Amino acid sequence: MAERTARKPVTVTKFVDKKAKGEKIAVLTAYDYFTARFLDNAGADALLVGDSVGMVVYGEKNTHSVTMEMMLAHTRAVAKADPAALVIGDMPYMSYQPSLKTAVINAGRFVSEAGAESVKLEGGIEMAPTIKRIVECGIPVMGHLGMTPQSVHRFGGARVQGRTDASRQYLLESAQALQEAGAFGIVLELMQSDTATEITKAIAIPTIGIGAGKHCDGQVLVINDITGMYDIFQPKFVRRYADLASVIEKAATEFVADVKSGGYPTDDESFS
Ligand code: KIV
Repeated sequence: MAERTARKPVTVTKFVDKKAKGEKIAVLTAYDYFTARFLDNAGADALLVGDSVGMVVYGEKNTHSVTMEMMLAHTRAVAKADPAALVIGDMPYMSYQPSLKTAVINAGRFVSEAGAESVKLEGGIEMAPTIKRIVECGIPVMGHLGMTPQSVHRFGGARVQGRTDASRQYLLESAQALQEAGAFGIVLELMQSDTATEITKAIAIPTIGIGAGKHCDGQVLVINDITGMYDIFQPKFVRRYADLASVIEKAATEFVADVKSGGYPTDDESFS
């Protein structure tokens, strides 16, 4: 295992300051202890334990079946790696929408039971009171605007947002409302680049884009997408840096062949 780099922890304050310093922010999703270590060594500023885990780890079609228990287990594994990167726990479907009380209790569980340093939740201006209440309880919250996957049915599919004046206006007003509510950053997902640029200029907290163009303050991608571990589909905005699916398949094929031929194990790989 590679030796770990000694990095200073990326606190929420440091994360936010990066925007003022003009330093781009790199965020990746992580769902387990070992991947969290690799991504931390790579210098990621934050590790988002995304509810995308439902799709890229559990093979679900969308994120709707992801539960608090699943998210707490994966967040605990990532936090256990003790990364310098900021750990953000993603609040799953219906863990914060029903009431402020539900939202606060579940946000608190991410911190007290799983070791998250912050949480993320989806939604625009209508979610501002929820963000405000969680922040008042001492938990940093990241917002998430644009094509928010938990509302995919309302959007009628994964459609690029911000194309109409009304959509653009809603996103801009929402970004401002989330900032006023105390969010420390906002993910902008699948959004027309001009709209993302306008939002990024209008608010003081960092915008983290995913399919939202190059003018966001930072970018986030799903680790299984960039490593080629998720091969169901590849959105236009994903850049694939590795093809781990082939690497794993090749290793497994060689193992199967060695076992079948009697080539594994050798005496050196056995105990006398
Ligand atoms: O769940 C997730 O991975 C996310 C990112 C795609 C932003 O919310």
